[in-house]
Amino acid sequence: MSHLPQSQYNDEPNTKNEADASHPDSKIDHAASINYWNSVPATPGAMLAMLGDFSWYTRIDLRGSKSFLTKVRRLIPALPRDQKLALGADCGAGVGRITEGFLSEVCEVVDIVEPVEKFTAALKKSELGGRGVIGDIYNVGLEGWNPEKKYDLIWTQWCVGHLTDSQLIDFVARCRVSLKDSGLMVVKENQSTDPSGKDMYDDVDSSVTRTDLKFKEIFQAAGMDIVKSEMQTGFPKQYKLLPVKMYALRPKN
Ligand SMILES: C[S@@+](CC[C@H](N)C(=O)[O-])C[C@H]1O[C@@H](n2cnc3c(N)ncnc32)[C@H](O)[C@@H]1O
Repeated sequence: MSHLPQSQYNDEPNTKNEADASHPDSKIDHAASINYWNSVPATPGAMLAMLGDFSWYTRIDLRGSKSFLTKVRRLIPALPRDQKLALGADCGAGVGRITEGFLSEVCEVVDIVEPVEKFTAALKKSELGGRGVIGDIYNVGLEGWNPEKKYDLIWTQWCVGHLTDSQLIDFVARCRVSLKDSGLMVVKENQSTDPSGKDMYDDVDSSVTRTDLKFKEIFQAAGMDIVKSEMQTGFPKQYKLLPVKMYALRPKN
């Protein structure tokens, strides 16, 4: 498994403060994240955290994702353009907001990876659960998911902040080998706006928000090429939301 340069990611810090400042991901506590997510309602609105019931937000997000995937599919001739993909995975799926509003339209079957059981229980009971599009459900964090199938599309959104840098490299590398020859992975995440260009730690849900540069280093270390990337547009400016970027990844040649 290839990793990022030792000096950047694996140095033993001299003091805890130094660790916190230069490695915000060292503060990630998986148990705290799971406690946080267990404390929020199992509803699509709650998946967008403090955005609550802002249903416009999910509409804009899903529209941006659909448009991005359409453009990426044009770049991969081996991917069928006008028919559904056979197998997708919704990683960190929550209650299946993205599968319901988007992935079920582009994939025949979608596997779900989500560590919080009350979310997947709600998903199974929902109308989506009865539609026959949901494949296997894995109640595990991405750091512990070892894909055993080959996927056409692995969609990972608003959840990789719960993984440390090194866990994220390993996760993306495992996804790389679990893609079909024409398969692709999409990572859609908030971007750090820290003025000094650092990742930002959030102790509400124990997660980090990474810089664009950090994402690129991680994808590179995981053996992935970015075949296309795009900023999500359309969020009203007055809400001062974090910028959101989509990365389409394919294994390096
Ligand atoms: C902001 S919600 C996003 C849910 C979904 N991706 C969406 O956009 O609607 C974050 C999700 O990450 C999940 N999560 C927390 N820790 C995780 C981990 N270690 N691996 C994967 N998902 C995790 C939470 O349970 C929650 O469902």
